[in-house]
Amino acid sequence: MKTEGEWNGELLAQLSQQWASRVIFFDECGSTNDEARKLAQKGAAHEALILTERQTAGRGRRGQAWACIPGKGLACSLLLRPSAPPFLWSRHALAAGLAVAEAVESLGLSAMVKWPNDVWVHGRKICGILVEAGEDFVIVGIGLNINDANFPDELAYPATSMFLETQKSFCREEVLIRLLDRLQIRLSQIDTTFDELLSAFRKRCALTGKDIMLEVNQQTKTGRVEGISSNGELLLRTSDGLEKVVQANMIRILSSHAP
Ligand code: BTN
Repeated sequence: MKTEGEWNGELLAQLSQQWASRVIFFDECGSTNDEARKLAQKGAAHEALILTERQTAGRGRRGQAWACIPGKGLACSLLLRPSAPPFLWSRHALAAGLAVAEAVESLGLSAMVKWPNDVWVHGRKICGILVEAGEDFVIVGIGLNINDANFPDELAYPATSMFLETQKSFCREEVLIRLLDRLQIRLSQIDTTFDELLSAFRKRCALTGKDIMLEVNQQTKTGRVEGISSNGELLLRTSDGLEKVVQANMIRILSSHAP
């Protein structure tokens, strides 16, 4: 199986008939999330996948930049037209993080999800996910470090890649197909079968049992994570009691009290 080089459409087609027909490939673009939004506004179908080799303006959460080395990583966005009502759409983030962790694990790494959707391997970030919504669509943008051998020093967090964790190069097309297959399963669970998603997510939640500091609405809070609520919120025990955190910026682990 090929492990290096440009994205190979023929290989993608061989690996998955189902997905190959939905891929919209750009040699280069600003951000796949932006391309997905433009295509959504022009009527593109549910599960169109925007894939690129080079992003010139890749975006992360909180307005940060996201860099993906051409030929090494994965930068893609999945356009969804959910049948679930908009108040459930934040669950796409949990589903996507879990799906990435499961896909990475199916290739021999052990991966955890740092709520809501960063994927971590051995305390280092291997994948970032940017979920954005429009009026009648959701975009799940995924940046996964696959064959990267090094990262810029100025990153705000310790980063890793599948290559760095295993000393093996991976076929990016195969990683992508595994990821899409897990995504399809987990994204289908955001509504009536959310319990199934939650129970798998809880087993991989890197924050449970940890003392953390996070920022909510420009306020810093500290507390111990007791788990994930039945709606997917982070359960944080603070000096004021048990709080349900819906959304947070900058989550930092202070110490571990897990058994
Ligand atoms: C984060 O951890 O801050 C989220 C990073 C998300 C990066 C991906 S790469 C593909 C898609 N296009 C973007 O511009 N961002 C997401």
